Amino acid sequence: MTAKDCFVVQPGGPLKGSTSVPGDKSISHRAVMFGALAQGQTHVRAWLPAGDTEASLASVMKLGIKVERHNKYEMTIHGGEFQKPDGPLNLVNAGTGIRLIAGIMCGQPFESILDGSEQLRRRPMKRIVTPLQQMGANITATNDRAPLTIVPAQMHGIRYDMPVASAQVKSAILLAGLYAEGETIVTQPGPARDHTERMLSAMGADIHTDGHLVAIRPKWPLQPMNVTVPGDISSAAFVIVAGLLVPGSDLTLTGINLNPTRTGLLDVLRQMGADLIVEETGLEAGEPVGTIRVRHSALKGTEVGGDVVVEMIDEFPILMVAALQAEGETIVRDAQELRVKETDRIAVMAQELRKFGAEITETPDGFRIRGPQQLKAAKVDGHDDHRVSMSLSVAGLVASGRTTVLDARCAGDSFPGFAETLTKLGADILVEDIVT
Ligand code: S3P
Repeated sequence: MTAKDCFVVQPGGPLKGSTSVPGDKSISHRAVMFGALAQGQTHVRAWLPAGDTEASLASVMKLGIKVERHNKYEMTIHGGEFQKPDGPLNLVNAGTGIRLIAGIMCGQPFESILDGSEQLRRRPMKRIVTPLQQMGANITATNDRAPLTIVPAQMHGIRYDMPVASAQVKSAILLAGLYAEGETIVTQPGPARDHTERMLSAMGADIHTDGHLVAIRPKWPLQPMNVTVPGDISSAAFVIVAGLLVPGSDLTLTGINLNPTRTGLLDVLRQMGADLIVEETGLEAGEPVGTIRVRHSALKGTEVGGDVVVEMIDEFPILMVAALQAEGETIVRDAQELRVKETDRIAVMAQELRKFGAEITETPDGFRIRGPQQLKAAKVDGHDDHRVSMSLSVAGLVASGRTTVLDARCAGDSFPGFAETLTKLGADILVEDIVT
């Protein structure tokens, strides 16, 4: 058997220089979906051409929306009315893709089926199906999982108090609210990312935020936009932690999205003693953007829980790697959502990091790690989870010897060019086909 695109990682010299990272995944999904809803031409630049976002783009095109692709990163979307697709929409591995499109499809005058990979079919869909049904939508899941079947129905506004702080759930409800009679109100128990609110508001939607409450009423047409997608802080996170851990490193990341609902990792790393200088340089797509300078730092353990968890929900796999190198104990609580991501990220990361000799205590809603721990190179598995694969690769940069991350191709679900970006900064990462 040949395992494609494995990363072979070795510790090396310091990481130095300046880099950007690919466009924000959350904003790239929304740019194509919301651009499709707008009346007229939406221009998108610095879009993320990754596995997840390409699936959303393909779905929008299957709904009859014309997209002129100027190159991998730039396109013009001719928004307008959707047409009945000639088969199921395939969102592949994209949780954001399927959940947001579900909200939109509930308002369409035709039937649709939303499906994806085996991995996506394992992820919970009841969290969107329940509120959408309460709005009057005719949406059914298969044992609370994809495929989802949606039949036209008249929807009405509701007030929905979300049991979990999830931007995907919030967005699905708000998008359905564009088609519902009256006002739709969502309250969130924590500060879930607000890209949907920012972008719909810039498009002239009747949407208002008051603390943790968001309200929307239908208002059409939506205005098209010019969107330059900022760099994804969730991708920058791997480069930042690599810079902190590899001795002598001094890196600058430019054009990074600094939306405060996304920067929890920076706060936690600072708490751990990280030398980070963050400078806001402007606004892109209604989002604050800036530069992050990172220097190698001696980290210390910390406690993470409460609101900051949702502001860094995708960054816990890489935080685990940082915690292993920090002096003292790191304790994470309130992060049970990690168990329903692309994989159960608490279990999978603990399992793979143990192959490096790491000692990790799993808890139902997080983990405990006492550091620093000397890691030994290992052959580890990315479990078809992009953030797991990239986190394990960064662990390989500080493990003694030659680490292999098997089947790491999935890094491209959010960070195409991950290995190349780190290599350019001085890391020793090879992309290889390995026979196993
Ligand atoms: C996302 C929301 C988060 C995040 C995911 C992207 C989004 O998921 O983990 O990577 O773009 O709305 P949840 O809403 O399930 O927390």
